[in-house]
Amino acid sequence: MVNLKGRSLLTLRDYSSDEIRFLLELSVKLKEKKRKTGSGELLKGKNIVLLFEKTSTRTRCAFETAAFDEGGRVTYLTNSQMGKKESLEDTAIILGRFYHGIAFRGFKQETVEDLARFSGVPVWNGLTDLYHPTQALADAMTLLEGVGKPAGETKWVFCGDGRNNVAVSLMIISAKLGLHFALLCPQELSPDPGLVQEMTGLAEERGGSLWIGRDREAALKEADAVYTDVWVSMGEEDRMEERIRLLKPYQVNRKLMALGRKGCLFLHCLPAFHDLNTGIGREVYEKYGLESMEVTDEVFRSSGSRVFDQAENRVHTIKAVMAATLVEPGSL
Ligand code: CP
Ligand code: NVA
Repeated sequence: MVNLKGRSLLTLRDYSSDEIRFLLELSVKLKEKKRKTGSGELLKGKNIVLLFEKTSTRTRCAFETAAFDEGGRVTYLTNSQMGKKESLEDTAIILGRFYHGIAFRGFKQETVEDLARFSGVPVWNGLTDLYHPTQALADAMTLLEGVGKPAGETKWVFCGDGRNNVAVSLMIISAKLGLHFALLCPQELSPDPGLVQEMTGLAEERGGSLWIGRDREAALKEADAVYTDVWVSMGEEDRMEERIRLLKPYQVNRKLMALGRKGCLFLHCLPAFHDLNTGIGREVYEKYGLESMEVTDEVFRSSGSRVFDQAENRVHTIKAVMAATLVEPGSL
């Protein structure tokens, strides 16, 4: 039996295929439970702190509502002394004395790793510059739910910034689950070759595959879903011009979607620049004349778009991660 009690989730690289499958199965179970009964007591008596350096809508609210659903209590902390008046080590020790678990969102992967090292309680990575593991869990859940085929017969394509936290986390979860994963991205925005080599080996051992390149037809061939993310991630706001130049040809639009299988799904971690209803979207339109960036409004709103199911699944998967790492496996 898989037992994750006491474990942190810093990157999915640390989790085995069985452990990831266990979390996904638990997520499905908890989704069903919420539909039927609304709430439970798996996290009763558990104090959870969300230590966030970057902004968030989904991740923060998913951690909070997931905890509330199962009787947990949450503190949202964005203005701590950490790193300014108090060392990371001291902060981690304090939080470990007050809380049963820590969710961290921020810049350096090293910070989330050090929090886990010093706090002595499970730490969950809610996004760093390198990884977004809880996102990838929700994405894999949405893909498998939406496509309805076994992992080894399912193919998805990430189109865009191939070295960002989301693309890399999708590559890792795909390899671990034996999915077919294609990364359509410019050479300049390709992931680390060492990681690609490692993940290619893992994917192939598990009946999946990993493809990286610039040939749209090859990438989209037999694709069940296309995924994209913003062209400029949090913390790299000064790269807009360069990213528009590199990624404009990689916009997900009707023509690109038509290269996939009939009924090909569209996925996005959100937030998305698909129209002019955002401040940044309007600035980009005024400066560069783009009405949308990584995805057109048409594809975003199409019947194949599963982006809001994906967002909802953040709650179920994050709940599974917290429950699996905080309570005995027998009570799940
Ligand atoms: N997808 C995601 O992480 O969304 P937030 O930035 O709103 O948390
Ligand atoms: N790559 C994006 C993901 C946001 C959920 C970022 O890091 O900003």
